Amino acid sequence: MPKPKILAFAGSLRKDSCNKKLVKIACMGAKNEGFEVNYIDFADYPLPLYDGDLEEREGLPQAAKELKKLFLDHQGFLISSPEYNSSISGTFKNIIDWVSRPAENEPFYLAPFKGKAAAIMSASPGSLGGLRGLVHLRAMLENVSVYVFPEQISIPSAYEAFTPEGQLKDLKQQEKVLRLAKDFTHFLAKLASPVPEKSFL
Ligand SMILES: Cc1cc2nc3c(=O)[nH]c(=O)nc-3n(C[C@H](O)[C@H](O)[C@H](O)COP(=O)(O)O)c2cc1C
Repeated sequence: MPKPKILAFAGSLRKDSCNKKLVKIACMGAKNEGFEVNYIDFADYPLPLYDGDLEEREGLPQAAKELKKLFLDHQGFLISSPEYNSSISGTFKNIIDWVSRPAENEPFYLAPFKGKAAAIMSASPGSLGGLRGLVHLRAMLENVSVYVFPEQISIPSAYEAFTPEGQLKDLKQQEKVLRLAKDFTHFLAKLASPVPEKSFL
């Protein structure tokens, strides 16, 4: 059975985004375990705000179709998203809304998400590291049928937390992110492996 593939992204469009830096460290951790990890930047997929009239008139925008294809093609997600006003960033929520819209060739409802797994992280200049946003992010992902890994990472004081090369200055934090990514790949592999016939599940 082929190894599950991981799609990695940040819920921020900003060039110097702390969340982009953070998720890239997690990518390293998953790659170290021999997994294929594809990092994408949402800035390369510009989308209008979700509008049902636009969808009815023109169907899904090209960027939404491309993202949908990517989500369908991967079984795991590494996500780092900023907290905006104690919740998910509007950018990220908008992307999830577009990707969740059914398309003609979709095998079943919510196929880009259903039965997939995600590990979530956040980085913020504040003292909570975006922790409150993760509560909403977790709930949203679970509601579109994603299994969200129980452990998560939040990096406070994020504007001072990274080296110019994009690594975490605090080696314990860096190790924690790599460890999360490693443990997540094991979880993903278990989720993707067939259930034995005599399993109690
Ligand atoms: C509209 C808006 C709302 C924000 N709300 C919060 C917040 O509730 N909690 C927080 O810790 N940071 C908040 N911030 C600060 C972001 O954490 C900060 O801009 C961060 O750099 C965004 O992540 P990024 O570096 O990945 O772009 C907010 C920023 C913006 C622009």
